[in-house]
Amino acid sequence: MDGNGRWAGKRALKRFLGHQKGAESVQFVVETASRINLPWLTLYAFSLENNLRRPKSEVSFLMKLLKSYLVGNVKRMNDNNVRMAYIGRTHDLPQEVQDTMQWASEATAKNTGTTLTLALNYGARSEIVDAVRSLLTDLTTEAHTRGCSVDDLLGAGALESLDESSIARALYTAHMPDPDLVIRTSGEQRISNFLLWQIAYSEIFVTDRLWPDFNGLHLLEAINAYQHRERRFGGLGESFTDEDLNNLEPAEEVAAEIKDHLIPKSDAKTESKSEAKPDVVLTRR
Ligand code: FPP
Repeated sequence: MDGNGRWAGKRALKRFLGHQKGAESVQFVVETASRINLPWLTLYAFSLENNLRRPKSEVSFLMKLLKSYLVGNVKRMNDNNVRMAYIGRTHDLPQEVQDTMQWASEATAKNTGTTLTLALNYGARSEIVDAVRSLLTDLTTEAHTRGCSVDDLLGAGALESLDESSIARALYTAHMPDPDLVIRTSGEQRISNFLLWQIAYSEIFVTDRLWPDFNGLHLLEAINAYQHRERRFGGLGESFTDEDLNNLEPAEEVAAEIKDHLIPKSDAKTESKSEAKPDVVLTRR
């Protein structure tokens, strides 16, 4: 969700207003995801570094915005069969924010459509640190239970049995598939400590559009681009079929259908103008 500050700056507005507009974009994108039955959508909403390095006033505004987004949108989440989840060191967020987060995830827990995961107080390196800590804790607990030493367990095969899937299971995302597609807004060509382990083979789509200007149509544009890529996972590519995103309806067909109700009214004007002279082109099959 990058570019809120720049969006505000371009209009000589305070950064806060950029965040407010950015929070509005979220629901349009989520409802488009739900419309096309996208199973997983993860938004990098607030990084560990944002928490440590932004002024306290901005952090506290973001926390209020998050709370009011959750309170204001749970009904729409339920109407759209969207389930809320979170990853990150969420236990370090203010207690009242954690309470609202828990309330929202419980209130949407029965939904079976898109899972919207908010990465909050999230950093990929700290996620890996947390995973290693939890693997080591499990090992010491097991040694304690069996009445032997960690060395004994390592000698008896624990070291060899540690593999990529053991690490994947210890990450916050253990219950999720690796992302197929990473969309980076505001033209930045970097990963910024997002899901470093999980995106080893993800496709990357960079758009210059700032997050507050990003809506459902732009999500479809990114998925459309993805649907035209060939993924090889280090192999030769002929035999790979993607069971998730490629089995969705063709994004460019859905784009025409949702235009009237899944993008903000103000953007609808801009989008129809841009039809004459597009700055975003949906590529043809
Ligand atoms: C990036 O813009 C955005 C953020 C750091 C915060 C986004 C979080 C919210 C809007 C809080 C509410 C969350 C939800 C899910 C409703 P930036 O400030 O880095 O922009 P810049 O790079 O242009 O300065």
